[in-house]
Amino acid sequence: MPPVISVERLRKEYRSFKKEAGLAGAIKSLFKREYDRRVAVDDVSFDIERGELVGFLGANGAGKTTTLKILSGLLYPTSGKVSVLGFTPSDRKDDFRRQFSIVLGQKNQLLWDLPAEDSFLLLKEIYEIPNDDFQRQLSLLTDLLGVTDKLSVQLRRLSLGERMKMELIGSLLHKPKVLFLDEPTIGLDVVAQKTIREFIKTYNETEQTTILLTSHYMQDIETLCKRVIIIDAGKIFFDGALEKIIGEFSSEKVLSLDFSSPVERERLERFGVVEDWSPVSAKLRVARASISKTSAEMLAALPVHDLNIEEVPIEDVIRSIFASKV
Ligand SMILES: Nc1ncnc2c1ncn2[C@@H]1O[C@H](COP(=O)(O)OP(=O)(O)OP(=O)(O)O)[C@@H](O)[C@H]1O
Ligand SMILES: [Mg+2]
Repeated sequence: MPPVISVERLRKEYRSFKKEAGLAGAIKSLFKREYDRRVAVDDVSFDIERGELVGFLGANGAGKTTTLKILSGLLYPTSGKVSVLGFTPSDRKDDFRRQFSIVLGQKNQLLWDLPAEDSFLLLKEIYEIPNDDFQRQLSLLTDLLGVTDKLSVQLRRLSLGERMKMELIGSLLHKPKVLFLDEPTIGLDVVAQKTIREFIKTYNETEQTTILLTSHYMQDIETLCKRVIIIDAGKIFFDGALEKIIGEFSSEKVLSLDFSSPVERERLERFGVVEDWSPVSAKLRVARASISKTSAEMLAALPVHDLNIEEVPIEDVIRSIFASKV
């Protein structure tokens, strides 16, 4: 089967008018317009198979939202080939529209002054969802997200988390085969984040919906995504298994030690970077290449009662990738 999403050498430039200051500048620009160009997506290629839940990561301004908007047909690419479910999104065919959804965490799509249930009825008409299917899907989704009692409340009166849950429901009523989620947990408290995260996981598993997700919260990515695509300044920086990131980008490991009698912090410093210390336990970062040698030296020199070698948390690895790119 061909991939559900296929992106080939995608490029997107934003052009904006350059206007010189003052009236003279404004007049001049009437006759001769100059443009500022900004390359937001630069030669990006990837394929996503049916049922995959892929994390799309990158620093602010890396080009994630732009890519998702192109995949949804909201923006035209400057060049390159994009196919979603066999459609070219920018053709905006009705048949395509019925099979995907995009949720933008920074933007409400449901109507602000209406209760969610009214917006949902509107979506039912727009997508021509049969009554039974609509009722079944609506009650399934509101149950899973725990917002059944909020359906008749005006959207503007809901909390941020409740609103996002309604947005998710609205995006899934017509059972799309492909779902683009752009920061669905942004700004939410940890409880709401967790509910939404678990919902996405369950939904992806039961429905085999293909999902491309962006989030700045590593917990979302770690819980949900086996595969991640990292984009940096518009270019693909990494595409592969989440767990491979550690091996590829982390040059250190963490040594965790318990001591049978107190050890001063100063005695540890020559072995690595001391991250955490109490007289009877410590955590050190040690170069990956010299981990066995260092462990052996510490066992010989110190009253070590227990020793564990751990990987650097993936969140730290990704943060350091982004930090080194700024
Ligand atoms: N409408 C626009 N006109 C001009 N430039 C734009 C426009 N939208 C985005 N850009 C620029 O394109 C680049 C990519 O933006 P994009 O919104 O895709 O980033 P992002 O990865 O989604 O970032 P974030 O994590 O902050 O949401 C940025 O440099 C941004 O300033
Ligand atoms: Mg964005």
